[in-house]
Amino acid sequence: MCGIVGILGNHQVAPLLVEGLKRLEYRGYDSAGIATVNDGRLDRRRAVGKLANLSDLLVHDPLAGRAGIGHTRWATHGAATVANAHPHRAGNVVVVHNGIIENFRDLRAEMVAAGHSFESETDTETVVALIQGEMAQGKTPTESVEAVLPRLHGAFALCFLFEGEDDLMICARKGSPLAIGHGDGEMFVGSDAIALAPLTDRITYLEEGDWAVITRKGAQIFDAQNRRANRAMTRIQVDATRIEKAGYKHFMAKEIAEQPVVLADALKHYVADDGNSALQALDFSGVDRLTLVACGTAHYACHVAKYWFESLAGLPCDIDIASEFRYREPPLSDKGWALFVSQSGETADTLAALRYARDKVAKVLSVVNVPTSSIARESDLALPILAGVEVGVASTKAFTCQLAVLALMALKAGRDRGRLTAEEHATHIADFRLLPGLMNHALSLAPEIEKLAEQLAEAQDVLFLGRGQMYPLALEGALKLKEISYIHAEGYASGELKHGPIALIDSRVPVIVLAPRDHLFEKTVSNMQEVMARHGKVLLMSDAAGVTEAGAGCWRTLTLPKVPDVFAPILYAIPAQLLAYHTAIAKGTDVDQPRNLAKSVTVE
Ligand code: AGP
Repeated sequence: MCGIVGILGNHQVAPLLVEGLKRLEYRGYDSAGIATVNDGRLDRRRAVGKLANLSDLLVHDPLAGRAGIGHTRWATHGAATVANAHPHRAGNVVVVHNGIIENFRDLRAEMVAAGHSFESETDTETVVALIQGEMAQGKTPTESVEAVLPRLHGAFALCFLFEGEDDLMICARKGSPLAIGHGDGEMFVGSDAIALAPLTDRITYLEEGDWAVITRKGAQIFDAQNRRANRAMTRIQVDATRIEKAGYKHFMAKEIAEQPVVLADALKHYVADDGNSALQALDFSGVDRLTLVACGTAHYACHVAKYWFESLAGLPCDIDIASEFRYREPPLSDKGWALFVSQSGETADTLAALRYARDKVAKVLSVVNVPTSSIARESDLALPILAGVEVGVASTKAFTCQLAVLALMALKAGRDRGRLTAEEHATHIADFRLLPGLMNHALSLAPEIEKLAEQLAEAQDVLFLGRGQMYPLALEGALKLKEISYIHAEGYASGELKHGPIALIDSRVPVIVLAPRDHLFEKTVSNMQEVMARHGKVLLMSDAAGVTEAGAGCWRTLTLPKVPDVFAPILYAIPAQLLAYHTAIAKGTDVDQPRNLAKSVTVE
């Protein structure tokens, strides 16, 4: 998952390329580079590490030119070094690439046998060497790209520049997203609309297999069979792509704090005062099975939703992580629906899982934060979560907004399938309306959580426990902690501890128990006692009744407001997020761009 930007501009492009890369840095930040054509001459600058290093380099060693491409990298093949940084060059061609060329070893061997020497370990350099090879035989840049694309297996978004061509960019997409931006006498290319927003609001999304020949006059788009293709130009809501910290220290802090507001927005969108809602288009009455597929945090949202769809609507649910689902070839019912959840809408495994299911189920739905994303565009119906741009690599507001939309879908399913009366449905909706206020209360616990985090930061291993619909919350809490603080953390169903994991318990292991005082509370308290009997350090997160009943003997407790049982997972996400955030601060890790990660995993 890397970020690509390209500009055929009327002004010096280097600063604009860096600005575009800044807006794409959430996609990868191991290294970055730009290349420009200036009076026909190709040149490039590359730097390892954060984008600021490239900016520093450009101060001392500027790059002129009104045509350029840029790239921010999440390493797939080859370590984060200058030699492996994009753009890659072969003779008269440079390229930037997001994706994986799966057959690059064969192609590379072929080129080496033909006498080509490579300077990097990357798959990308093979692509530009092939293009150069075609041009060396007298083909034009366009003919060369057309000849090479069919030879590339895997996923790619590519953008090329050519020596001697001040008004030409060629780009292509297969499996990784790519958009074309239309300016006034200028043209742009970007991995997504966020990168292009400061330059234009007129966007054309390339379809799977498309490639395009771009000059300042416009773009000629070709489909996978090299036929001219017309792709719609859409206007994006530029303010919806706004990404600034608005005074917060980190994007993650801002996005945690935004949750009450964006959740209320989602509720307004899906439960309009006049009773209409975007969910009216869905009738669950004929559905016999629901399959929910996602990755990471989005998968945990699906896991919570499974409890809701089954308990509120009596609808059988299967859940799976996309990387497993797509290869186990699960049998699907032709009266069933498949639902794909993805913040970015570009996660390669989730998109591939959608494509597996597409012709096997009655309807393909998606719950996404980017309505123009590939997953949204390939669904029969895409339901937006309206969380606003989420920049922090650790997903927070997207998670609770995914849960909000999934909860409302489960309630709708309950009505459609006759499992919920209109009154019961209305009661749940009234309860839902309490959530923003309860979430604000949970956010006010941040100073107390910060103190807990300072002690948690010393741990080597941490366990999270939950029962029922709080079990996926335990999994999510562990993921939040591990991915930004780098502390090893695992989530378990609290009833599962005695079947092995309890062997891990001793006085050095904090055990975070997420347990509102609900119908499963006593069971969870028993599990807590088993932990404390072995000197485990229990941090109990519950409501006042729960803390009063079972807080004695705990290492620490955190009292949350009482929340209607159904919506507890949405509320308890906040203290789990804050605990991870403040632990990471205490450990001094990079909260918004944790090591080895990227925001949108557009490769397998
Ligand atoms: C969550 O904090 C992680 N960044 C990661 O697990 C993420 O949820 C996963 O990669 C799925 O991303 P998506 O929602 O954009 O598909």
